[in-house]
Amino acid sequence: MIQIKKKAICILILSACIAAGNKAFAQKQDINQKVEALLAKMTLEEKIGQLNQYNGDWEATGPVTKDVGNKLDEIKQGRVGAVLNIMGTEHCRTFQDAAMKSRLKIPLLFGQDVIHGYRITFPIPLAEASSWDMGAIEKAERIAGTEASASGINWTFAPMVDIARDPRWGRVMEGAGEDPYLGSLIAAARVKGFQGKGLGSTDAVMATAKHFAAYGAAIGGRDYNSVDMSPRTLWEVYLPPFKAALDAGVGTFMNSFNDLNGIPATGNSYLQRDILKGKWGFKGFVVSDWGSIGEMINHGYAKDNYEAAEEALKAGSDMDMESRSYINNLAKLVADKKISVNLIDDAVRRILKKKFELGLFDDPYRFINPEREKTSLNRPEYVDAARDMARKSIVLLKNENNLLPLSKNLKTIALIGPLAKAEKELKGFWSLDIDKNEEIISLMDGMQSHAGQTKLLYSQGCGITDTSRKGFDDAIAAAKKADVVIMAMGEAPDMTGEAKSKSNIHLPGVQEELIKEIKATGKPVIVLLMAGRPMIFNWTADNVPAILYTWWLGSQGGNAMADVLYGDYNPSGKLPITFPRSEGQIPIYYNHYNTGRPAQNDTDLFYKSAYIDLPNSPRYAFGYGLSYTNFEYKNIELSKSTPSMKDNDILSVSLMVQNTGKYAGEEVVQLYLRDMVSQPVRPVKELKDFKKILLQPGETRRITFNIRKDELSFYNDKLERIVQPGTFQIMIGSASSDIRLQKSFELTN
Ligand code: BGC
Repeated sequence: MIQIKKKAICILILSACIAAGNKAFAQKQDINQKVEALLAKMTLEEKIGQLNQYNGDWEATGPVTKDVGNKLDEIKQGRVGAVLNIMGTEHCRTFQDAAMKSRLKIPLLFGQDVIHGYRITFPIPLAEASSWDMGAIEKAERIAGTEASASGINWTFAPMVDIARDPRWGRVMEGAGEDPYLGSLIAAARVKGFQGKGLGSTDAVMATAKHFAAYGAAIGGRDYNSVDMSPRTLWEVYLPPFKAALDAGVGTFMNSFNDLNGIPATGNSYLQRDILKGKWGFKGFVVSDWGSIGEMINHGYAKDNYEAAEEALKAGSDMDMESRSYINNLAKLVADKKISVNLIDDAVRRILKKKFELGLFDDPYRFINPEREKTSLNRPEYVDAARDMARKSIVLLKNENNLLPLSKNLKTIALIGPLAKAEKELKGFWSLDIDKNEEIISLMDGMQSHAGQTKLLYSQGCGITDTSRKGFDDAIAAAKKADVVIMAMGEAPDMTGEAKSKSNIHLPGVQEELIKEIKATGKPVIVLLMAGRPMIFNWTADNVPAILYTWWLGSQGGNAMADVLYGDYNPSGKLPITFPRSEGQIPIYYNHYNTGRPAQNDTDLFYKSAYIDLPNSPRYAFGYGLSYTNFEYKNIELSKSTPSMKDNDILSVSLMVQNTGKYAGEEVVQLYLRDMVSQPVRPVKELKDFKKILLQPGETRRITFNIRKDELSFYNDKLERIVQPGTFQIMIGSASSDIRLQKSFELTN
């Protein structure tokens, strides 16, 4: 009886799935037909108009093209398909009204860099990546998407999924760090968060995977610089997060400013046509980066905008952001028979399709509802989520003698440093000033609401970039009066972000001098470091007993820091990027090859493969981060020691993790693999899986990882994905530098 019931349920579920599948198919067909019908009515000029995107009148995020006509008039003439930097329903309405006056009334897309929150500022993406918590990251983007879509925005230029191995690069703050596996999971989580139930729901914004591709590998970490990269590195390290975004359903891709091996990404057919639209079958559209079509002239790749437009369209760039190369040249290129109308049609189709999917043809004003805007922004539950995300983003780097968490019984705490009272700074780069009255919780505010009877003293000590020690005496005096000193140090928020690369990434100014002076008072010192990149702070790392890396945590930053300092939240963040000891070590990343003479800490000059003035190891490794409790790893077991390579074969690895300390806490249990002998060679370690678990004091949990064939595969020098038999090492640990359990297995044919 039970069997029959089960069968009936299965049939019902199956029929429902088929019905849902049929509906989706029918909807797709329907949209395709509508696109074709509309396309058939469009003049060449109107088609070209759809490929043109203008900056609006909010702050420009790139060099604005001069001597242009009236934008609203151009929209009315059907010469614009999308605008960016227009915010708020009222504003969007003005522009959409203009589009509704055009002959075919094709609605505009409203694009915006919604990078880490819209009205409520969440932590910067690199900080969020430190949470290794996909649910929390997806939720953060869901909130950003809900707020933005209630303000008229229907398209975000996020997530940035560029892998970055160079902390000098200013845009490292905008991504998920150095690892392709972690980066891919985060890319997918962000896309899902922005797009919610899918394009078509009124609270979804269309996401953009950017910058395609390899932008994060700019030589020397200098923004916009050239990229010179082997095809294997491209495929193994830089492309996976883009593929993950695509698989998660991302609507659009943005190309990038850099050239890749001599060909600007914007004019790169291999990237956009062969890989993205060919091999990967991407059906959405590609928008250029700001002005990047015209910039091919500076690259020396095109003679003028006419040639640049030809190269870009042929290479698969569908929409021109702000360079006006398309609007000014495509018609002539068609007349001159340099470009076929079919190529233009393909780009227009892709854009129209997204507009249909977003529901803009059903109602061009569906995201423009002032009533909804009033009630959807800044909701208390969003504030709570921002605080939670911020706590999860903090990384505990050091905690000697359990100096943290703070006791609630302290008489006096001194808060010292240029960022102790910082407010706006906590928002970091790429935050939007939607509401000038956004409540921002500084560290001081957060401490005040937690401190109870404890007296809080304050002294700035110095400014971020100060070279003067003028404020030191005051800070030392405050420290002397306190039981504990908390120092809030770091960079300025605009020291990371676009065009914000730095050659010197040490803690700026005299800040480390101030830390030395305060430490010399003999008081217990806790240093909080705020920045959008890994900084270098060797003296502090060696001498200060407790250090928290807080990045830029967004508007709830102060509450989150106080939650962690007082132990209301036990820190669980893990670094998504390696911290160097010196700029001279850059690029430095955990998943490197072994070399023929690997560093072995020996004194033999010829077997070190290291610097003579520095160890090879980083200051803090990828995956590193402490907790107020301790975790013990034990009892590793494999389901088999000689698995075969049959497609569906799974190798299970299990282990026990115990919380041996006195606080409940979360641990990110990380699984790395190494293919011991292979051709070509493989990295010394590659993250393949992890689990973030919460354990109560004393609690033990068995954790199981399933390794599949795909996780053992890699690209050979012909760019074929292969698996080679042989020995593999499984390494499980709390950081890439802290492997606790190991086991090897032999993969057979
Ligand atoms: C950035 C993009 C951004 C665009 C629009 C460019 O300068 O590289 O990431 O989406 O501006 O603001």
